[in-house]
Amino acid sequence: MAGYAGNARSIAALVREAEVHRDVYVDPEIFELEMAHLFPNSWVYVGHASQLAKPGDFITANIGRQPVMASRHTDGSIHVFYNRCPHKGVKIASEPCGNAGKFFRCPYHAWSFRTDGSLLAIPLKKGYESTGFGDTQANEGLSRIKNVAIYRDFIFARLSGTGVSFEDYFGPSLSTIDNMVDRSPQGKLEVVAAPIRYMHTCNWKMLVENQTDTCHPMVAHESSAGTAVKVWKREQGDSTETPMAVQLYGPFMSPYEFYEQSGIRIWPNGHGHTGVANSIHSNYSDVDGYLEQMVAAYGETRAHEILGDIRHNTVYFPNVMVKGAVQILRNFIPVAVDRTLVESWVYRLVGAPDKLYERALMYNRFINAPTSIVGHDDLEMYERAQEGLKSNGNQWINLRRLYEPDEQPDVTAVINGTSERQMRNQFHAWAKFMTMGMDKHAEVAE
Ligand code: FES
Ligand SMILES: [Fe+2]
Repeated sequence: MAGYAGNARSIAALVREAEVHRDVYVDPEIFELEMAHLFPNSWVYVGHASQLAKPGDFITANIGRQPVMASRHTDGSIHVFYNRCPHKGVKIASEPCGNAGKFFRCPYHAWSFRTDGSLLAIPLKKGYESTGFGDTQANEGLSRIKNVAIYRDFIFARLSGTGVSFEDYFGPSLSTIDNMVDRSPQGKLEVVAAPIRYMHTCNWKMLVENQTDTCHPMVAHESSAGTAVKVWKREQGDSTETPMAVQLYGPFMSPYEFYEQSGIRIWPNGHGHTGVANSIHSNYSDVDGYLEQMVAAYGETRAHEILGDIRHNTVYFPNVMVKGAVQILRNFIPVAVDRTLVESWVYRLVGAPDKLYERALMYNRFINAPTSIVGHDDLEMYERAQEGLKSNGNQWINLRRLYEPDEQPDVTAVINGTSERQMRNQFHAWAKFMTMGMDKHAEVAE
């Protein structure tokens, strides 16, 4: 297929009730349209407020193709801008994070900007007098992104001037972020270290879909996690304690029935999570002193409620996955149609025992990193899929597992944990946010 630009109808036709066309993964034009429409129309994760602890602290990110940055101003407020000098367009910050001091200074001609983005000074300012400069957009400084939401320290932005509000976009899915933050006795998370960063040679959506794909762990991870479990069984001897590492990778070998009864919850706008009744994180050992801290902070009932909600993977459409139970966020950043930069962030629960942070870091290294026990299995599957989709044998990807003909889009529901409905949910949202505002006269998927 071809000729998608400006043609909402042909884009919507790539998503059927339980199938998607391969072009959503392999067509460079579709990728560029995702960058131009899907990402600007969506609320995209920019960073965490704890990365901007002091005035002058900044972080950089991309939303679609557009470079952005966030900074902490002297009055404590956080601002998000386009990372572009209003003079000749030079990127103001090129590092992932840093501290600008009292102001940002463009490295080309030294125009400077306060940490709220406003223009501070221009060398040889006289040359702009009586030129009409005061009426230009440049006089306002760095262009601010107006639609920014900071939810419990998580910074999101929507580039498009019109669209769905933050509250309507995420709705009840914010309960996963709530649960992750509430697991701190002080109700606070912090980023302490850089994420694990790695490039995958596949389309970004393959990683997103994998987060709720519960029919693959016992197959794709059998040779790695399965072998590790066998070795532990052989070597454990009289030991009654299961090491932390075995607790982390062992559940990947759980049978289909385990995932079936764990359940999946779907929400409107493409969000959803695995692990409703229980999850692969449910049977970790208790950490000394933690429950007492939580009870002291929240009371007996609420503390048990927070710690009893042990979700597996929550997909925040379009490209983020959160694991509340082990305080990890994975950001699947699209680079090209077949290249995805993954950032795996770990948050520390402020005020909680260090052992919990150690466990989260270990999870990130053992499960998520491409050098881990588990992560490289997934990487190979994504790369093989990207290769296999070049084949002309079949143009469609099948997502029909546990499909019900009367399925309604954009609803909240709890379903069988091996259903592919969350993937269908994501692709419904994909068609909606890809075509939103693209062609007001064309019919779009609804
Ligand atoms: S390009 Fe930034 S000051 Fe000239
Ligand atoms: Fe996996």
